[in-house]
Amino acid sequence: MIKVKKQKNKVVQKSASSKAVKLKIPHFSPEIQIHSTPEILVEETAHLFMQIARAAVQERGRFVVALSGGSTPRGLFQHLAEEPYFSLIPWNKIFVFWVDERHVSFTDATSNYRMTQETLLSKVSIPKEQVFPMTNGYLPVEKAASAYEMKLRRFFGGDSLPCFDLTLMGMGEDGHTASLFPGMPQVNEQDKWVVGYFVDPEKKERVSLTFPVLNHSRLLVVLAEGSKKASRLKEVLEGPSDPPRYPIQYLRPAQGRLVFSIDASAAFKLKTSK
Ligand code: 6PG
Repeated sequence: MIKVKKQKNKVVQKSASSKAVKLKIPHFSPEIQIHSTPEILVEETAHLFMQIARAAVQERGRFVVALSGGSTPRGLFQHLAEEPYFSLIPWNKIFVFWVDERHVSFTDATSNYRMTQETLLSKVSIPKEQVFPMTNGYLPVEKAASAYEMKLRRFFGGDSLPCFDLTLMGMGEDGHTASLFPGMPQVNEQDKWVVGYFVDPEKKERVSLTFPVLNHSRLLVVLAEGSKKASRLKEVLEGPSDPPRYPIQYLRPAQGRLVFSIDASAAFKLKTSK
């Protein structure tokens, strides 16, 4: 694995007392981890998941995770449900939320909940009351979003932003992440924790956490795999900062870590992979 850490930009400003004050303004500066094959990407991510889960339970008595859907996480979820991770992960202390969801029923083939249920939740012992599906497509999509926000407020208590121990993200070929797509105003939502809307590029309704919540995570891991992601990853990771065009560049955790964990095929256009 090649580990490349970009320096976080620091701004030094003279304060009134002319004492230099180092302000760390969150800048898009992810760590980049490149794995030689998709299998190693899955294994390394599963190992990280296990480490973070065990540490969180040790320190706080629970591990609170937010999962993305799509196709990339499937292999990881299947791997987590197998030995040694089946035995190493404290499943009964895990609380599962979603980063985003298609506004469909739990049985719909495109449902992220269904995919997670089939590949992981049906095979491990997480108490049902510790799993928080985002929507089953029944309510109007905006109401589904505000209902999920209420779930988050009840769980995390009051008005402080949710803080996930691990938030697992993906990246679409258009540079979207979660269900925050280029050109959609929901990308800029700063007050709501969850948005529900008709995603024009997808011609579908989606429910999604917003960037203020995502950026309050302790650890954000973006998984990307395959050559189809290579061009976009080069633009996102090595091109100019242009978050309206590449919303994933809005991932700028104030206190936490942001890691892009990618395989060699997805990384092959990057300078850092040479
Ligand atoms: C979703 C995801 C979405 C996904 C990217 C990448 O619900 O589809 O949350 O943000 O992570 O679209 O999807 P793939 O893993 O299928 O490439």
